[in-house]
Amino acid sequence: MATVETHYKDVLSDVYSWMLGGFDLQLARNRSFFEKLRIRPDISRNAIDLGAGCGFQSIPLAELGYSVTAIDLDEQLLQELKANDPTATVKVIRDDMLAFADHITAAPELVVCMTDTLLHLETAARVRQLIDEVFAHLEVCGQFVLTFRDLSRPLENLDRFIPVKQDDDTVFTCFLEYEPNFVKVHDLVYIRSDAGWKLNKSFYRKLRLSPDWVRNQLVAAGFSDVRVDIEQGLASIVAAKSTGTDGD
Ligand SMILES: C[S@@+](CC[C@H](N)C(=O)[O-])C[C@H]1O[C@@H](n2cnc3c(N)ncnc32)[C@H](O)[C@@H]1O
Repeated sequence: MATVETHYKDVLSDVYSWMLGGFDLQLARNRSFFEKLRIRPDISRNAIDLGAGCGFQSIPLAELGYSVTAIDLDEQLLQELKANDPTATVKVIRDDMLAFADHITAAPELVVCMTDTLLHLETAARVRQLIDEVFAHLEVCGQFVLTFRDLSRPLENLDRFIPVKQDDDTVFTCFLEYEPNFVKVHDLVYIRSDAGWKLNKSFYRKLRLSPDWVRNQLVAAGFSDVRVDIEQGLASIVAAKSTGTDGD
């Protein structure tokens, strides 16, 4: 089985920004998302983007004035981030997000982990470990923002085949196979070249985490103000580390 790292390297990184509609669309969406949540630099101005990919959150945060450290396993996506960062300020680090604390010199006021990145961790125990680490390193009054799809309810039969995106030269289909604690995500990408169509295929596992479970872990870790919003199966969670909580 492919690891998350090899899955991105072999199949996903080449088509990641295309699959999501490109930089302009995604940067605009994330600017609006942060605006709606009134996310803006206030204390140290340090922000960490866990599983930053090509920078769809890092770049808007840098534009807002944060000093952003972007951590991801995938070198190609991090290079795309650097090439598309108009502020030229985002610091990119290729490493496991669980090791984020090795790369910070000052406590962050904001940590984000968005677009299913949390579900890429190997086990629910690692998710809890990450939440504990973020709580321990966040500044007092700092915030942790998470977004992920609620995969707790399974799709059935043909609904498990998802036409992700297509154009004249690329056709991307995804097939989801449900296991008790994971979804096996099979990505099938046909790419046209002079030699004809070539199929790139690979699968990896995503965790099936309910928003309630994640919320409970955040509260158990010490976050005091945890707001959960669910829209069309997409969970957005903002957790704040209040004054006087344990671990300050
Ligand atoms: C679905 S993408 C989200 C990227 C970006 N946040 C966005 O919204 O476009 C998940 C990203 O997490 C990265 N990733 C997965 N597991 C990781 C880990 N353990 N440590 C660091 N990055 C990881 C992948 O390489 C990928 O870039």
